[in-house]
Amino acid sequence: MKVTPIEGPFGVTVEGLDLSRDMSDETLRALIALLHEHQILAIKGQSLSNEQYVRFGYQWGKPLNFMIDSHKRDDFPEMIRINNKADTPQRYRDGAMHWHCDSTYEEVPASVTMLYGIEAPDVGGETLLASTSLAYDGLDEAMKARIEDMTALHCLGGSPELPGEKIPFFPDQTARRGVQRNLLVMRHPVTGRKSIFTSGTAFGAEGLERDEGRDLIDTLRRHITRPEYTTHYKIEAGDIFLWDNFQTLHSATEIEYSDEDGKRRLLYRISTKGIPDLCRQAEAA
Ligand SMILES: [Fe+2]
Repeated sequence: MKVTPIEGPFGVTVEGLDLSRDMSDETLRALIALLHEHQILAIKGQSLSNEQYVRFGYQWGKPLNFMIDSHKRDDFPEMIRINNKADTPQRYRDGAMHWHCDSTYEEVPASVTMLYGIEAPDVGGETLLASTSLAYDGLDEAMKARIEDMTALHCLGGSPELPGEKIPFFPDQTARRGVQRNLLVMRHPVTGRKSIFTSGTAFGAEGLERDEGRDLIDTLRRHITRPEYTTHYKIEAGDIFLWDNFQTLHSATEIEYSDEDGKRRLLYRISTKGIPDLCRQAEAA
């Protein structure tokens, strides 16, 4: 397989691999290592059945049960539908157009998210990505020391918004799920690499006054989304695009809601929790 850097500070694409024929441990180990090293990974030119895609998803962890039932396929509930159909209700539009990582409002946040491109619009539909591990490396020593053992508080839609963002808030879900706690400095569960773990759900930190905690999260979110830590990728048909939620934030960009040829988008998302079985086996060996 051919590995090429994505334009920008991080990420790679892989070509010359057919996952419908080769999902061997050796291939999967290579892909897992690429994702952990480069934070985002685009596997080009794939043509998988739903069964094969779901099997691929299970190689990265346990697929999570998404909170919005209508977005899940009835036959493959691991697969979360993302499209831009013209009749999409307003409440489901642009819900991902802010910097976040996935499911940080749950007790166990998502580890990996993958999107399989079935249809892509001719124009638009880019995903923005920020490396939270590169951003951690770029913090000054005083800030690293300040946040080293801090615990961040998370709830749905909790973070301070950055310019141009609108973080969706779900009061019912928040009441049900409550406040989650995560270390602000994430140690990657496989590599141990440090990153800043804020998402669009962090709103404060344990031991800090409300405003002070909010200011700290705001400062870190601004830092992470600086141009030197960000890139973008447009998912084309046949791409499987993965990001490591422990080392990245992502944001959707504006897309037209349309059923017309050349404007439709259909992606199938699978997000997992925990680490790949292959990494667990490596640990035990
Ligand atoms: Fe997301």
